[in-house]
Amino acid sequence: MRSLRDAELKGKRVLVRVDFNVPRDKEGNIIDDIKIRAALPTIEYLLKKGSKPILMSHLGRPKGKVDERFSLKKIAVHLNNILNARVGLAGDCIGPEVEKAVRTMQAGDVLLLENVRFHHEEEKNDREFSRQLAALGDLFVNDAFGSAHRAHASTAGIADFLPTYAGFLLEKEVEMLRNVLESPECPRMAIMGGAKVADKLGLIGNLMEKMDIILIGGGMANTFLKAQGKNIGQSICEENLLQEARNLLDKSVEKKVQLILPVDAVAAREMSSEAQALTLNIDDIPDDMMILDIGPRTIEEFSQAIGKANTIIWNGPMGVYEYPQFARGTEEITRAIARSSAVSVIGGGDTAVIVNNMGLEKEITHISTGGGATLEFLEGIVLPGVAVCEQQAAMV
Ligand code: 3PG
Repeated sequence: MRSLRDAELKGKRVLVRVDFNVPRDKEGNIIDDIKIRAALPTIEYLLKKGSKPILMSHLGRPKGKVDERFSLKKIAVHLNNILNARVGLAGDCIGPEVEKAVRTMQAGDVLLLENVRFHHEEEKNDREFSRQLAALGDLFVNDAFGSAHRAHASTAGIADFLPTYAGFLLEKEVEMLRNVLESPECPRMAIMGGAKVADKLGLIGNLMEKMDIILIGGGMANTFLKAQGKNIGQSICEENLLQEARNLLDKSVEKKVQLILPVDAVAAREMSSEAQALTLNIDDIPDDMMILDIGPRTIEEFSQAIGKANTIIWNGPMGVYEYPQFARGTEEITRAIARSSAVSVIGGGDTAVIVNNMGLEKEITHISTGGGATLEFLEGIVLPGVAVCEQQAAMV
């Protein structure tokens, strides 16, 4: 990729696509600012080099219309508090007012443009809209790894009009994910969890080519258990994917990948904070109960396997961790990964939040800021936001 370190920056207007799509509460307050902090090295570098950073981001899915609930106002205030610079918010992301705000920027100023998704042209990757965005800068830096799987105007289209560079976050994410995928450090392990197999079929298929061991927990394990002929009672299951699950089980045998499923479970008759939890052998799930976490013997077996791995990728919780009775599996797996000396990479979303809440983030080699982007990358899909940085590197 074309690195920012190679760019002439002094006095330049630098359009930076960041991913400030942070989790917020009902009042719109920021719950977790990791994605904002992750972009600071690039912004600080641009300021140090005497350029003018103009930041573009989306927030939520306002469907191409101005909607105050998705305004970047609170994000601009937060950025102003954590960054040693003056941060201004433009009222829009294109147009004469924004052009004026850019013209009047002083050295040391940062300008955040209002939500790019207030224009429906953004998600359509509209050429004219991309050109209007590009007119605000002299060069484009993509640092929004979390949005790199979207071919939108501010993540991809804009690169047709400006010299394009990868920001430090995007560069680091790609390097870390590529390292674990191509790692020669065996045994290589993927830990898959979360509710649905549907989102992760392609991913498991690709990981089967690269990993030595795959542990499967969470709701998605139920589909594999049922595919093996087990009774899973009322547990969530994707009936339409049973054949796909069988194919993956067969593929693991063919590829000599150890695919390990739960041997016991914590189950209940309902999914609620009052639910009475029972630990059961995986062959003893009654018809009226549902699996809501991996059980203690599975935790033991998974933890031992984790202790022997030298490369670990983890995505998705092992159970319904929002309820304390069903959180132990996820917490123990987090601890086992934190204890291990393996190179460990955690794919964003829920899994990253769990590790941060447990205060174990320093024990993990890399926690990705991407949810969907990380999954697509690990699946082997070319991400448009990464491709634009590579294509231009090839042209130079
Ligand atoms: C994310 O939170 O995964 C990214 O910001 C992408 O958001 P999107 O799914 O709305 O495109």
